[in-house]
Amino acid sequence: MKISVCGKGGSGKSTVVTFLAKQALRKNLEVLVVDADDSNAGLARMLGFDSHPLPLMEMVGGKAMIKKKMGGQTLLNQATIRTGEFQPEFIRRQNGLMLVGIGKILQTMEGCACPMGVLNREFLKKLTLEPNQIALVDMEAGVEHFGRGIDEAIDKVLVVVEPSFDSLQVAAKIKSMASSMGKKVVAIINKSPSETITKKIEQQLTEGGLAVIGVLPQDPSVFEACLTGDVPQKGEAFEAVPTVLDRLLSA
Ligand SMILES: Nc1ncnc2c1ncn2[C@@H]1O[C@H](COP(=O)(O)OP(=O)(O)OP(=O)(O)O)[C@@H](O)[C@H]1O
Ligand SMILES: [Mg+2]
Repeated sequence: MKISVCGKGGSGKSTVVTFLAKQALRKNLEVLVVDADDSNAGLARMLGFDSHPLPLMEMVGGKAMIKKKMGGQTLLNQATIRTGEFQPEFIRRQNGLMLVGIGKILQTMEGCACPMGVLNREFLKKLTLEPNQIALVDMEAGVEHFGRGIDEAIDKVLVVVEPSFDSLQVAAKIKSMASSMGKKVVAIINKSPSETITKKIEQQLTEGGLAVIGVLPQDPSVFEACLTGDVPQKGEAFEAVPTVLDRLLSA
């Protein structure tokens, strides 16, 4: 199953991806995390890796080559791509957890992220998972990836919603765009400070046709851990994750 994790900037996508990935490992699944965020660089560390894999953009010779149309013979030109086929520099592996990255904008005046969107879309289409594997895609913030058709190859879309008007607006847009592509969309409420607020957000989401599969409370230990680039292995938010993953996989 290929699941994209989307939502407003800062809503908690990378935190949720990390929590879900770690929980999936506990259920003896293998997890491929795809870093599809073209700006933030914290995901490798959050997942517990010492370094980033080389971005897949480098496999095809960079953005200029993608514009020309996917350079030389690489894994990315194959009809299918399996996790076992990556050269080691393009993937990080640790006890069933794997990380690949599409690419980051690193320089001023480098141009837009469209070529990365193309590469991500083609990669996700070709990605062929084994029965014991899931892929979690940490998407760029907002809805542009739907415009680029990146979610075409995704089986399920998980929207992370924090308690804010903007976040709810983005969630509604994601719901409408993903549904028009025939994709199943579910939501998770993150950083909720109280039952009352959870209920209010849940009501708005369900009225908009978005099923809420779980709630991660606002948890100071998550916030504190992020100061060192980590995600905690205990605490209120952590404890809510097993139910969320079970519901996500069966939704
Ligand atoms: N449940 C939570 N409780 C408290 N803080 C949280 C929680 N979830 C996420 N945060 C904090 O919110 C901030 C944003 O989280 P995160 O980086 O996961 O969001 P994101 O959606 O991936 O952001 P971006 O759009 O920039 O990639 C971080 O400081 C993180 O520690
Ligand atoms: Mg992020």
